Amino acid sequence: MQTLTTAGPALLGLALIIAMLLVVVVVMLVRAASVRTRARKGDGGDSAMLSMALQEAVNKLKAQERQMAARAEASERLAGQIVEGLTSGMVVVDRDGAVQTVNPAARRILGLDADVGTGLVSDVLRRVPALADVIGEALRTTAPIVRRTVTLEGGARPAHLGVTVSHITGAHGEKQAVVCLFTDLTAVVELEERLRLKEALARLGELTAGLAHEFRNGLATIHGYGRLLDPDALPEPARTYVEGIRAETTALGEVVANFLRFARPEQFAMAPVDLRAIVTRAIADLPGATQVTTCEGEFATVNGDDVLLRQAFSNLVRNSLEACAGGTAVPAIVVRGAIEGSDVFVTVDDNGPGLAPAALNRLFQPFATTKAAGTGLGLAIVQKVIVSHNGVVVAGASPAGGARFQVRLPIHYAS
Ligand SMILES: Nc1ncnc2c1ncn2[C@@H]1O[C@H](COP(=O)(O)OP(=O)(O)O)[C@@H](O)[C@H]1O
Ligand SMILES: [Mg+2]
Repeated sequence: MQTLTTAGPALLGLALIIAMLLVVVVVMLVRAASVRTRARKGDGGDSAMLSMALQEAVNKLKAQERQMAARAEASERLAGQIVEGLTSGMVVVDRDGAVQTVNPAARRILGLDADVGTGLVSDVLRRVPALADVIGEALRTTAPIVRRTVTLEGGARPAHLGVTVSHITGAHGEKQAVVCLFTDLTAVVELEERLRLKEALARLGELTAGLAHEFRNGLATIHGYGRLLDPDALPEPARTYVEGIRAETTALGEVVANFLRFARPEQFAMAPVDLRAIVTRAIADLPGATQVTTCEGEFATVNGDDVLLRQAFSNLVRNSLEACAGGTAVPAIVVRGAIEGSDVFVTVDDNGPGLAPAALNRLFQPFATTKAAGTGLGLAIVQKVIVSHNGVVVAGASPAGGARFQVRLPIHYAS
């Protein structure tokens, strides 16, 4: 019992220690487990957050992509609208000479079909080789072509184009394409030409009118003295000389008077006048013209000088009559009116021999004549009168075989 009593507390202590150790181990185990659970729980939260963040980033990227696509589409639409809506013609040609774009203005200005292809520039623009040449030149060089005036041949409308060609280059400066922009300069160039002509005619008038007056005075004196000499009272060779002097001074006097009539500044009596009435009067007043001349088509009212306009059309019909007189066919002259836009065109066609190639360049110059008794002032007067009325006169060949003269005048609209 003694032993029991001494071993008892020892055993009790041991049991206590073991119990405490057990408690400690249990506590530790419980902690470890809870730590592990927590850790596990933490793991799950992070990956959820990670996937959320990823999802968000993906959504953002998708939204950005959508925005960019919308922006690209909008800018493409805008570019398309600009190209479509440009009033200037635009042709884009790649570096191999293949046409990429022809905008509606280009088709309208150049009169190309709506389904104009995208072949080689020389094919697509075969109607306007001068323009294709300028694009070809730009493709061969690196320098841009700025505001060049290109004249289209063969009486084409438009007759003049203002052309600018610039290059499109890649990121490394390599040539990729050329952009050709052009506008119809016909009206501007014609206006410039008219102004130049008007100025030239005014200068010519100022310069020569004084001189011609001096000539006329001198000629009158010579002619007067010539008349004082009585040819019958002169010996034979002198008589012929005096007659020669008289004839030449008379002829020269007429030339000078004609020239003065042409060169002197006109006093215009401008008023709205009916062009058909003017043309009809001009034909009626010319001996022999009514029988061989037909007047047809549509005419209009122009603001002009009745007398001067009649003189201009009379000169044209007289030339046709004179030209036909030399031919073998029965003379046929057609004066045709036509209205186009805000202009009236009057075309005089004849079936005479047509314009001599040598005369073509000088037709409208004073004293240019191929006729033995011609003054060479008829067409110079026509041009002066028409230009003074802000019109244009051009000459060419008539489908009837002879010559064609075409007058264009602006229509007068009552305001
Ligand atoms: N209808 C026509 N047919 C052929 N040639 C023409 C015609 N009209 C004008 N010409 C040419 O233009 C030239 C100049 O004409 P113009 O100025 O009227 O002077 P002119 O009649 O006095 O010769 C003429 O000499 C002629 O060679
Ligand atoms: Mg004449």
